[in-house]
Amino acid sequence: MGAYQDFHQRSIRHRDAFWSEQAALVDWHRPFTEVCDFSRPPFARWFRGGETNLCHNAIDRHLASRGDQKALIYISTETGQEKTYTFRELYKEVNRAAGMLATLGVGKGDRVLIYMPMIAEAVFAMLACARVGAIHSVVFGGFASASLAARIDDAKPALMITADAGMRGGRAIPYKPLVDEALRLARHPPRNVIVVNRGIDKEYRPLAGRDLDYATLRRAHAEINTPVTWLESSDPSYILYTSGTTGRPKGVQRDTGGYAVALAASMQHIYCGNAGETMFTTSDIGWVVGHSYIVYGPLIAGMTTILYEGLPIRPDAGIWWKIVADNQVSVMFSSPTAARVLKKQDPKYLAQYDLSSLRHLFLAGEPLDEPTHRWIADALHKPVIDHYWQTETGWPILSAVLGVEKTPIKFGTPSFPVYGYDLQILRESDAAEAAADEKGVVAIVPPLPPGCMTTVWGDDERFVNTYFTSFRTRQVYSTFDWGIRDKDGYHFILGRTDDVINVAGHRLGTREIEEAVQSHPNIAEVAVVGVADPIKGQMPIAFAVVKDAAAIATPELARAQEKGVMDAVDKQLGAIGRPSHVHFVTLLPKTRSGKLLRRSIQALAEGRDPGDLTTIEDPAALDQIKRALAGDFLP
Ligand code: PRX
Repeated sequence: MGAYQDFHQRSIRHRDAFWSEQAALVDWHRPFTEVCDFSRPPFARWFRGGETNLCHNAIDRHLASRGDQKALIYISTETGQEKTYTFRELYKEVNRAAGMLATLGVGKGDRVLIYMPMIAEAVFAMLACARVGAIHSVVFGGFASASLAARIDDAKPALMITADAGMRGGRAIPYKPLVDEALRLARHPPRNVIVVNRGIDKEYRPLAGRDLDYATLRRAHAEINTPVTWLESSDPSYILYTSGTTGRPKGVQRDTGGYAVALAASMQHIYCGNAGETMFTTSDIGWVVGHSYIVYGPLIAGMTTILYEGLPIRPDAGIWWKIVADNQVSVMFSSPTAARVLKKQDPKYLAQYDLSSLRHLFLAGEPLDEPTHRWIADALHKPVIDHYWQTETGWPILSAVLGVEKTPIKFGTPSFPVYGYDLQILRESDAAEAAADEKGVVAIVPPLPPGCMTTVWGDDERFVNTYFTSFRTRQVYSTFDWGIRDKDGYHFILGRTDDVINVAGHRLGTREIEEAVQSHPNIAEVAVVGVADPIKGQMPIAFAVVKDAAAIATPELARAQEKGVMDAVDKQLGAIGRPSHVHFVTLLPKTRSGKLLRRSIQALAEGRDPGDLTTIEDPAALDQIKRALAGDFLP
């Protein structure tokens, strides 16, 4: 591991020289005067004084050399629609969308909340925001109106952009009614909502004076050129909410210049994607993977990106591989859950297509178990790279960096710390570095490299307190993941140190789900834990105490109540947070100071030893959990 080790060491020891070189991968309107301003730790300002723009780097700068090259391929197996945009066409569409924003008075620093299905207009909207210096906040379409309202109130957007509906598995999923409801709940609703009317929801009715039709606005701005607004490198590009320990999601704020450089560098060194080639990332624009590797990363690199609306197994389990073959995809990025879903299907689907264009498959977002890693690498006959990162970092923390050195892939590990990250595995007890094969907290010594979150939106204090105070003696960034480094330097991620769970690669806070469960009028108390699931990695299950026990007096009533609780979660948070089971108990395991013993509950639910119980208030509570899991407890 010579070449890569040198590369990594240089990125830490000669940080400014290293990143100054990487910064040449993007265009600067005005050169920066300082590579890294770390005068106010843990806050870092990268490329200080430099002016740039993400939209310019993703589109404008490619026009001269690749204006007629495909930039965006939109494929929907839900509607049967396929549409291709060259860089020039994408430029036009984004200029139109940016023109709409400008006409509505939306400019630099204003927030725009995007709540959209996987359609090309969602990409236009994001890039249009970047063009005019507005800060987008994309909210995943699976979140329900109350979650949406909470994000609206935090970001206080000047504008929202949505669609009448999305589609999933052939079923229409209305978006606009959820937006209407969210705007009723929100204390800071925006003046206007632009709606892309796809004609899917026949009930769709715009609200006069507030809702504006995308197609009409587009026509009115058909020929418009909207100049790029140059931003100082640290000016925010976007906010993306993510879950943590509390019920209140954090707005991860990202800068402009650092992000552009980090993505450009990652496309070259990690993803090995070249301009003119095609990248296919199967995530959603509502998640960080969609931001970085459906939209900005590939476009900044001059690649064609594929936006896919549909399921991985519909019309059949060959659809992704057909897309790879049809479009000569060379870089693909997906999730371990998707790999596990495909593993259950007939292997003929993989053998059916010519995958010779594909160089690597990257997987991230949740632990990739060794058997699945092995299976998919064998089935594809391609290197499959497990890599590890977070919404907070915006790009990989641990990965093989094959563009620098072809280090051997070890199954079940995301390999090594990526250049720019001074990563350490720290002992929880004394913040000292753990020995090889010793478990510790995965931490990053600040400054965080370019592209990582710069703060929590509107709350610098929360940024510092949440991420940099895990250890009393050292100000280091905690990933809230446990990890181990083996003797060969390969890293293993062993799960979260906090109450975050990961359901099919979707990051959720157990606290958030508990609050959604508690929105049901008959729930007095609840504990939600994630339990291992063979496909989705983890599934939430709930243990709830009811107010009125008559509502669960018989097994039938209890089942109806369980369904009612699940519906409440769907409505409050979204179906992605729905517990697979709601067990009723009269008592929850807590410490004498009233803290829920979530880890013990989780251990029992997974059939493991509940661990240290010396602090438990009432041991009978554990007995109830055991009996509820066995199905023989009714309060
Ligand atoms: O717990 C880790 C897990 O997912 C968390 C971050 O999730 P999110 O913010 O949604 O960002 C996903 C970006 C790819 C991490 O703290 N995680 C992510 N990748 C891996 C992983 N766990 C194990 N192995 C991975 N490769």
